Amino acid sequence: MMAKRNFLIIGHRAHTVADWKLDDICGGAGRLDVLVRSITASLWKSHGIRRDTDVWLSLRGKPKPDITIHFSGKNIKYLNPDERSTAALIRNGLIKLSEKKGPLETSPGVTIQRESFEELVKKLPKPALLSEKGDKEVKSNYETFVLGDDRDPTDDEMEILKSFDKLKIGETSLLTSACITLIHHFLDE
Ligand SMILES: C[S@@+](CC[C@H](N)C(=O)[O-])C[C@H]1O[C@@H](n2cnc3c(N)ncnc32)[C@H](O)[C@@H]1O
Repeated sequence: MMAKRNFLIIGHRAHTVADWKLDDICGGAGRLDVLVRSITASLWKSHGIRRDTDVWLSLRGKPKPDITIHFSGKNIKYLNPDERSTAALIRNGLIKLSEKKGPLETSPGVTIQRESFEELVKKLPKPALLSEKGDKEVKSNYETFVLGDDRDPTDDEMEILKSFDKLKIGETSLLTSACITLIHHFLDE
């Protein structure tokens, strides 16, 4: 069953193999730091995990094809608030997936598979896109929130997302993880 809150973050350059070191998640891993911070913002409260929330990462960097990593708030274990250990969950998952297609649960609550961004988008419930150019507000009738990493969706991605409502959070362009914290706040109220 799908969670009531889902965050999908597009990792435009995030590598789909573990050809990077844990000391180099910004550079060698293709801005994985943005994705890892987004996982922390999505799943961590002050003390404990948001069990009603899931995170979906679409890794779209080298080599092709795309990989989806699903973090289930309900089932996750061994998630800590620091960036390095969350990046290690991703790295170990990529090593275990290797040449396989998946889905493969590589750690409790972490599932990895080869799946295109388009396929992933289709299966998520009541979706909307977060965009600085949006014309709607965050509301609880949406269940999936799609966000860019350090870059907005490409033209090809926008073609896939074109029918989605576009939600704006004020006039300032914010970090992805900051947007996620604000979305939780709006929905919690
Ligand atoms: C760091 S921003 C992307 C880069 C940014 N557009 C730029 O070039 O300065 C990351 C993502 O957060 C979301 N975002 C950032 N600010 C937002 C806002 N004010 N309203 C809605 N979404 C926002 C969008 O999904 C965006 O793709």
